[in-house]
Amino acid sequence: MSILLLGPDGQVGWELRRALAPLGEVIALGREGTDGLCGDLARPEALADTVRRLAPKVIVNAAAYTAVDRAESEPELAQHVNGDAPGVLADIARALDAWLVHYSTDYVFDGSGDRPWQEDDATGPLSTYGRTKLAGEAAIRDSGCRHLIFRTSWVYAARGGNFARTMLRLAAERERLTVIDDQVGAPTGAELIADVTAHALRCALREPDLAGSYHLAAGGETSWCAYARHVIDVARAQGQALAVREIAPIPTTDYPTPARRPLNSRLDCRRLAQAFGLSLPPWQHGVDRMLTEILDVR
Ligand SMILES: NC(=O)c1ccc[n+]([C@@H]2O[C@H](COP(=O)([O-])OP(=O)(O)OC[C@H]3O[C@@H](n4cnc5c(N)ncnc54)[C@H](OP(=O)(O)O)[C@@H]3O)[C@@H](O)[C@H]2O)c1
Repeated sequence: MSILLLGPDGQVGWELRRALAPLGEVIALGREGTDGLCGDLARPEALADTVRRLAPKVIVNAAAYTAVDRAESEPELAQHVNGDAPGVLADIARALDAWLVHYSTDYVFDGSGDRPWQEDDATGPLSTYGRTKLAGEAAIRDSGCRHLIFRTSWVYAARGGNFARTMLRLAAERERLTVIDDQVGAPTGAELIADVTAHALRCALREPDLAGSYHLAAGGETSWCAYARHVIDVARAQGQALAVREIAPIPTTDYPTPARRPLNSRLDCRRLAQAFGLSLPPWQHGVDRMLTEILDVR
């Protein structure tokens, strides 16, 4: 079975290279492409030609325009990549009778209340990023292709920059940090997302009725401030010398950004757990593992 993986160098894409390998031949196609192939989601015609030529059984789209704040000043590019390209992929998937696996975000919701969002709850994105991701979801559903859409939240990976690394750097330099305390969600590791994707895809290939949209986040919930405190506590317990003495909570209104972010990013993942027989581990499991990797503890 051939699996076309788009966005293979992102946080989730990198882990998918590993997790999808046992399912079949993974063709990892980055934005720049190779051998006349195009993996650029901003070039729909060339991308469509490439997918038709490769005729994979499964398309996994881990590519996205993820610069949430920059999207406010580049709405057209964000729409091409997040909103339009998934529709192009979905139309081809339908024509090829292939599966399309795609990722979306808690940012499709308006962040009101404190109840975890369910898949069928009303959406209400607050940002260009959220609106374009929602458009991508809709295009896939409207195409009628067999698909799995996973909405996830607060993604991190050991590879590259992430929130924990930033906190560790600042905590080494400063005695006092201020961190947002009124946005609540679950940090979710790219490893977990990739492993769940591979498992779900394997199930769905056998049982096509499992096609649909699912929330996929680690268990439990936290705020950015509590997340930062956890990171610092674990780092200290692992022997890191840090200057920080206080991590003070601040409201989102004290940290203005070009894009508005939802306060309530809780995702209810029961549909996923029931459909695929999974138990999603608490967010601390993945974060502690990632910290062990980046702190290079032997
Ligand atoms: N990160 C989060 O906190 C978060 C939260 C919820 C949902 N999600 C969703 O989860 C999925 C995976 O996110 P991630 O965290 O792995 O993102 P990421 O690390 O930013 O990776 C996205 C990848 O897409 C690539 N890309 C951007 N524009 C492209 C284009 N025009 N053509 C081809 N590739 C392009 C990027 O390449 P460059 O690096 O070269 O730009 C990057 O390799 C996305 O659908 C995202 O919307 C992410």
